Amino acid sequence: MLPEQADILWTFTTIIFTLFSLFAFINVIQNCRERAGTNTVLWGSVFGAGFIINLLLTNHMFDLTQQEQLGFISWQVLAVFLTLLTWGVFFKSENIENQSPPLIRAAFFYTTISILLAGYTNWLPQQRSDPPPKATIPTGGVESMDAYTEMGRVIVFGSAPPVAGQKSIGKGQCPLCHTFDPGDNIGRCPNLFGVEERSHTRIKEDRYLNEPIKIGEVDGATGIVKGKPDEVPEEYRRADASELTGEDYLRESLMCPSCYVVKGYGKAGDTKSPMPVISKPPISLSKFELNSVIAWLQSKDTPGEFASVTIPLPTGGEEAPPADTGGGDVEPPTFVTGSEPIDVMINTLGCPLCHTIPGIEGAVGELGPKLHEKINAPNRIKDPNYKGKAKTGRDYVKESILNPNAYIVFNEEAGEPFPEGVMPQDFANKLSVNALDKLVDFISNTQPEG
Ligand code: HEC
Ligand code: HEC
Repeated sequence: MLPEQADILWTFTTIIFTLFSLFAFINVIQNCRERAGTNTVLWGSVFGAGFIINLLLTNHMFDLTQQEQLGFISWQVLAVFLTLLTWGVFFKSENIENQSPPLIRAAFFYTTISILLAGYTNWLPQQRSDPPPKATIPTGGVESMDAYTEMGRVIVFGSAPPVAGQKSIGKGQCPLCHTFDPGDNIGRCPNLFGVEERSHTRIKEDRYLNEPIKIGEVDGATGIVKGKPDEVPEEYRRADASELTGEDYLRESLMCPSCYVVKGYGKAGDTKSPMPVISKPPISLSKFELNSVIAWLQSKDTPGEFASVTIPLPTGGEEAPPADTGGGDVEPPTFVTGSEPIDVMINTLGCPLCHTIPGIEGAVGELGPKLHEKINAPNRIKDPNYKGKAKTGRDYVKESILNPNAYIVFNEEAGEPFPEGVMPQDFANKLSVNALDKLVDFISNTQPEG
């Protein structure tokens, strides 16, 4: 079933349930009116309460992910079942059970079956509809390289275990673009397997020495001096930085992506990197965080073995770990409900790392098309190569978010299509129905500024 079909099914079912309990309420009131001696207030409030509960449950359904809805619907089935049961008690107590409409008997039959089924599927191993357990990472001074590189790993992948169908991702956002296992290539960003080894050879290549800027020249976008570890801004500089090392290459890759652009992965003839500056907003890693990521990069290909790590362990007193990586509970997986302001929503989802989005401050990503969808979307569906299902611009935008590979945009500037498979395929799991609506509304109206 497509995510959208699941949406429609749950939305439909949940609304039907509420209407059904409203029907029960009206029916009971009518029956009470027709007969003297029934306790209208008592029965009215019982069934009124049933209706309100169902209304609240329905309302809550709209704030959930599809997976959560799947788990939650069984509560509503239970609520309807109880309504039916009480309805039966009502008919019986008034001695009018022979007047209960056939509809009710049928509904009773089907809900009983649903309950049995829901009970059975709940009894099967759980598909995870509850939030993942929170993990903790160590606080205070860091005692071992193991713990330190683990912090780096958590910044890259997050602390939550992966959710079905969703890549796990941390504050550093790296897995939005990069892969890490041998042979796992998704296109326009280098696979970071073996990057430790590469870091030592890169700095000796002619290409590194001269392109796109020479060693000692300043990168316009970040103000970083290329290949000069002793001129890295003081807050990020390593102690007694003199000679250029592999560690410095990695730090520079993160703080000044355009100082060196891996061949074939850049824009404008490989002179400009589409990678965000990791030490600046929106990602803004501190020195402590950035160093732990470098330590992780240096050791990730040799599990349990830290000989290649050149970053020293931070000694407790020298700098305190920042609050959000240092202590206690760690963030649950990315999810937006739709109650957030639109810019918070878009930043949480990471769209600005790849897209330039008019109206969203700092959204200057370059890996995907500029989002000018008020103009682009209607044109895309007119393209003879368009094979997707959208009939309107709004549908097209929704399709692009839920199923990015339905149509691959052609990059006019580069004269080739944008890479397929780079845009994450799992946004359906990160958005409530409500949030998706809001996002689609906003994106379908984006257009060039001015
Ligand atoms: C928006 C996509 C994007 C994100 C997010 C991103 N990168 Fe990159 N990264 C790239 C691209 C594209 C390149 C290749 C161009 C270049 O050399 O800058 C690259 C290059 C690199 C390189 C150099 C690789 C080599 O073979 O020399 C390293 C190291 C790196 N990234 C690490 C990271 C880490 C660590 C993170 C997370 C903290 C991250 N990147 C986040 C897109 C991204
Ligand atoms: C890792 C990079 C990346 C991220 C993150 C990303 N996208 Fe994309 N997006 C792309 C690429 C590359 C394309 C072009 C290839 C294609 O058509 O699938 C694209 C295409 C699109 C299109 C079609 C544009 C057009 O003009 O036809 C839309 C709309 C879109 N993205 C919206 C979003 C939204 C909204 C988000 C955040 C929820 C997002 N993207 C996150 C890389 C990304």
